[in-house]
Amino acid sequence: MLLSYNSIIHKAWVLRKQYLHLTGTNVYRLINSYGDALPEVTIDVYDKNILVQYFTPYEKHSKNSIYQALNELLAPKTVTEKIRLKGEDIKTHLVSGLKIPENFVVLENSIPFNISFTEGGGTGLFLDQRDNRKKVQALAKDKEVLNCFCYTASFSVYAGLGGAVRTTNIDLSKKAIEWGKKNFLLNQLDAKHHEFIVGDVWDWTKIFQKKGRAFDMIIIDPPSFSTSKTTVFTVEKDFPQLLGRGLNLLREDGILIFSTNLAKMSFSKFFQLLPKIKNFTSKPYKLIGVSSQGLDFPIDGIHLAEPYLKFIMLS
Ligand SMILES: C[S@@+](CC[C@H](N)C(=O)[O-])C[C@H]1O[C@@H](n2cnc3c(N)ncnc32)[C@H](O)[C@@H]1O
Repeated sequence: MLLSYNSIIHKAWVLRKQYLHLTGTNVYRLINSYGDALPEVTIDVYDKNILVQYFTPYEKHSKNSIYQALNELLAPKTVTEKIRLKGEDIKTHLVSGLKIPENFVVLENSIPFNISFTEGGGTGLFLDQRDNRKKVQALAKDKEVLNCFCYTASFSVYAGLGGAVRTTNIDLSKKAIEWGKKNFLLNQLDAKHHEFIVGDVWDWTKIFQKKGRAFDMIIIDPPSFSTSKTTVFTVEKDFPQLLGRGLNLLREDGILIFSTNLAKMSFSKFFQLLPKIKNFTSKPYKLIGVSSQGLDFPIDGIHLAEPYLKFIMLS
C-alpha cells in the first residue's frame, strides 16, 4: 500500500468535511472502498458511532491501523465491524466502546433519524440517497405521496417535512413500518395523518388501481431481489412492470420516481429497457430527471465503471 491508512482516511474525511459539514449532516460514508483507495472496505460515520465493513479478509494489523486512524481523527464513542464475506454469514463485532449501538439518533440535512446497528441487515438509513431525499422534500408541497418499498420511510419523512398532505407507505416488513412510524414521531409528523401498510407492493398497487386511488408523487425504490408469499421479483426483469403500475396510479403532471442500486444494470441498459413500460400502461410519460449517489460515495471508474445508484424521475 503506497499511502498509509492514516493518510487515506484523512484525505477522505477532508472531502466530506468540506462539503457536508454545512448541511447539518453527521451521518455519511467516510470510505467507499476503491473510490477512496481502500479496496473492499466501507466506513460509515453515524455521528459518534462508526461502522466498518469488510468485504474481503483484512489482516489484523491493517485493521488496527484503520481503527487507530479513526480514533485519532474522529474520537468515536463506538466502532463496530461487520465482516461480509461471500457465502458466509455476516459477522458483527464491537471493536471499541461499551456495546454495539442499538438505538440512537443521527442528523441528515438537520433531519433526525433513528438508527440501529443490531436490527437486521440495514441501519435504518441508506446514506447514498441523501441528495435524492432532499429533492423529494423540495417537490412534495401539497402532494399526495405513495412510497413503495418504504423501509424506514425516510423518503416520506422528507416529503412530510416538505409539506406533503399525506404519505402512504408500504413495506412487507412490520418492523420496518414500525421504524418508519418512529421516524415520523421523531420529526413531529403525526403518523395518524399518514398511511402505513404492512403488505406487498404488487398486491397493493392492484388494490389501489381497483379502488381508483391516485397520487401526485410515487416513489418506487425496491430491493434488487425479493420474494414474498405470492411474488418473486428481480429489478432487472420486473422494473418496467412496476413503473407501468406506478404510472397507472399517477395523477396528471405527477412525478414517478424509480431508484435502484443494482450496479450490474448500467444506466444505458436501464434506458434501453425503459420503453418496455408500454407493455404495462397506456399512459404516456417523459423523463424529467436523472441523478445518482452523493459525493461521499465516489467510484474509481475502474472497479466500477459508472455510478451504481440510479434515481430516475418520470412525469
Ligand atoms: C432497498 S429497501 C428500500 C429502501 C427504501 N426505499 C429507503 O429509501 O430506505 C427494500 C425494502 O423493500 C421491502 N420489500 C421487499 N419486497 C417487498 C414487496 N414485495 N412489497 C413491499 N415491500 C417489499 C423490504 O422489506 C425492504 O424494507
